Amino acid sequence: MLEVRDLHVEFRTRDGVAKAVNGVHYGVDEGQTLAVLGESGSGKSVTAQAIMGILDMPPGRITGGEILFKGQDLLRLKEEKRRKIRGAEMAMIFQDALSSLNPVLSVGDQLGEMFVVHRGMSKKDARARAVELMDRVRIPAAKERVRDYPHQFSGGMRQRIMIAMALALEPALIIADEPTTALDVTVQAQVMELLAELRRELDMGLILITHDLGVVADVADRIAVMYAGRIVESAPVHDIYKAPAHPYTRGLLDSIPRLHQKGQELYAIKGLPPNLMNIPPGCAFNPRCPMARDVCRTDVPPLDDVTPADGTRVSACHFWTECLHG
Ligand SMILES: Nc1ncnc2c1ncn2[C@@H]1O[C@H](COP(=O)(O)OP(=O)(O)OP(=O)(O)O)[C@@H](O)[C@H]1O
Ligand code: SF4
Ligand SMILES: [Mg+2]
Repeated sequence: MLEVRDLHVEFRTRDGVAKAVNGVHYGVDEGQTLAVLGESGSGKSVTAQAIMGILDMPPGRITGGEILFKGQDLLRLKEEKRRKIRGAEMAMIFQDALSSLNPVLSVGDQLGEMFVVHRGMSKKDARARAVELMDRVRIPAAKERVRDYPHQFSGGMRQRIMIAMALALEPALIIADEPTTALDVTVQAQVMELLAELRRELDMGLILITHDLGVVADVADRIAVMYAGRIVESAPVHDIYKAPAHPYTRGLLDSIPRLHQKGQELYAIKGLPPNLMNIPPGCAFNPRCPMARDVCRTDVPPLDDVTPADGTRVSACHFWTECLHG
């Protein structure tokens, strides 16, 4: 359904050109969940914004690649066409519901507006649909609360409202960018569960951008790992947990806190992500990689097929075989 091919995005700033996305490849099908992982600044959100067509341009610029959605390249469509796709065919859920929802409109009006604008419904019918949606995302007493404003809801309930907005027109694709990061841990789990359940019910594709490797195993079909604006490994979730084929993925997995390791010092990948205005030559991860050798400092590793038979797994490491078996 969605395929991003060799996407490049730059930001021109006063200090220079930041290469935020440097050839991203990933895709997701109907009914599938792709989790996108990577440290802060690796280009996860910028890629998502490029797919949605909501990048800040300028300073952002898409300098190459294709974004194929149901067979058509979104980057070649006129803005008017893209606006129609946004909301109706693909929708996004952000981390911070309070700044994404309109503070001066009741949640019922905001949800209802989707149906008035996109489906030409009457205000009364749209209101009824808003209540239905609020029920669907399990907001208690939806009928009464439909007139309330966003600030009158708790963080978790607001996030449910944002999920309801995204689901309103039953899009084929949802992109959720750290949808639970701002919530308490217990609420996080409930919201994630709800999202996974609705995704199943509606058979949508979901791109889930997250820092939380803990939830990924339960909800994702595939994982794509990003580093310095590239995909460094992409594979079915179980393969990655069994044995990563990239040292960066291994580092991320080793940094997951596990209960039975309580008291033990948590592993952290040493060093910092690179400055995007000055990405190291060769493999961008080489200054931090425990397996780095000379070739890593000169040659960019291509995204290799780890499973050539079916092409479901790729890694951008010169020594992925060693990583996989070692
Ligand atoms: N509006 C902007 N202007 C200039 N540079 C930007 C802008 N938005 C993003 N960038 C650059 O793109 C890089 C990648 O940003 P992005 O938001 O995609 O990271 P991320 O992987 O989503 O990180 P996080 O986990 O912190 O959300 C940033 O480090 C920044 O240098
Ligand atoms: S290419 Fe070299 S530096 Fe990069 S991840 Fe592989 S071993 Fe490490
Ligand atoms: Mg982000």
